[in-house]
Amino acid sequence: MTTDRFVEPSPTPLALLLLGRDADPNSETGVECPGDLPAASDPGLVERARAAKAALGDRVFILGHHYQRDEVIQFADVTGDSFKLARDAAARPDAPYIVFCGVHFMAESADILTGDDQAVILPDMAAGCSMADMAAINQVEDAWDVMADAGITDVTIPITYMNSTAAIKAFTGRNNGAVCTSSNAKRALEWAFEQGQKIFFLPDQHLGRNTAVLELGLSLDDCVNYDPYKPGGGLTAEQLQNAKMILWKGHCSVHGRFTAESVADVRDRVPGVNVLVHPECQHEVVLAADLIGSTEFIIKTIEAAPSGSAWAIGTELNLVKRLALAHPDKQIVFLDKTVCFCSTMNRIDLPHLVWSLESLVEGRVVNRITVDPDVAHWAKVALDRMLALPGVGATPRD
Ligand code: 13P
Ligand code: SF4
Repeated sequence: MTTDRFVEPSPTPLALLLLGRDADPNSETGVECPGDLPAASDPGLVERARAAKAALGDRVFILGHHYQRDEVIQFADVTGDSFKLARDAAARPDAPYIVFCGVHFMAESADILTGDDQAVILPDMAAGCSMADMAAINQVEDAWDVMADAGITDVTIPITYMNSTAAIKAFTGRNNGAVCTSSNAKRALEWAFEQGQKIFFLPDQHLGRNTAVLELGLSLDDCVNYDPYKPGGGLTAEQLQNAKMILWKGHCSVHGRFTAESVADVRDRVPGVNVLVHPECQHEVVLAADLIGSTEFIIKTIEAAPSGSAWAIGTELNLVKRLALAHPDKQIVFLDKTVCFCSTMNRIDLPHLVWSLESLVEGRVVNRITVDPDVAHWAKVALDRMLALPGVGATPRD
């Protein structure tokens, strides 16, 4: 039986987002940026950031995601993917201030995994993630009701990608599921199929499909897309009952733009090129690529590659540019001619970093990310289930 549940699309007030002012209650983050930002043209910004960081000393720990701008990453105490940064934050219980140069869902995870006496700061609240925004908690709860009507919730395990709001992670924790990242998605799906017969995978359809088909040997017919903007997800009860992977219809607005044509084109342009892409890319892209893996896998692969080898990389442009600069003995090109930076990752710039650090020096904690305690509890349950997966690693803090 299908239901007629239908969630009205609620558009993001784009003008506010562009202006970087006020709050967007429908977004993962809101877009408010209070305070006086230094001018981007201020020639003293690098020196100001250095001085503020030195004044704070061990009281501040700065985390930088691999997709951050060069001007920001130079101030990071550690760099990493979203999983590594969450663990790194948890490993510094003595630092009262954690400045997270990444996006909102990552700062939420850091807040969940750090102590109550530690403040996690996101230098620009407009640094959200369009993929995380594609799964709102009310939509996901409606979808779970649709699955209950189809009689499948008892045998369905929710798995959410790290790139999701704390509320979605908490939903997963409450319903016997776990979080996964792009580096442990295979293990998380295997674990889930030991617990139940189906997986409800959120919010990235591509990571879910690519892992299920390429790593677990499922067929494309085993996967269905749940579209939150269609009644009953656009699926019949029979389709839900027959599916093994119920994929939320979300995607990354950066990785989702690479195409199979870009792969064919780069193979024509660069003889002998190896195509290396992130699993957030569309299925046809990963099928056309030579190697697929998480951000950390991409970095390690390039580091281990022989001198003179040629690589086309399908991930965020800041990282690809840095890899090309760090490995002048290898030919490294960006997979596509038109895909550009992650615009929300790029919201964290030097003026915002200087503003947040100087505010801390003055004793003002700005842009603190705090997750509601009940949400944090259940999200941590889901995060801990991931950390307990064989080979993933011990719980970083308890
Ligand atoms: P990782 O940080 O897990 O590689 O995810 C990629 C991404 O898109 C981060 O926003
Ligand atoms: Fe979100 Fe994609 Fe940007 Fe990562 S790269 S923050 S998944 S939009």
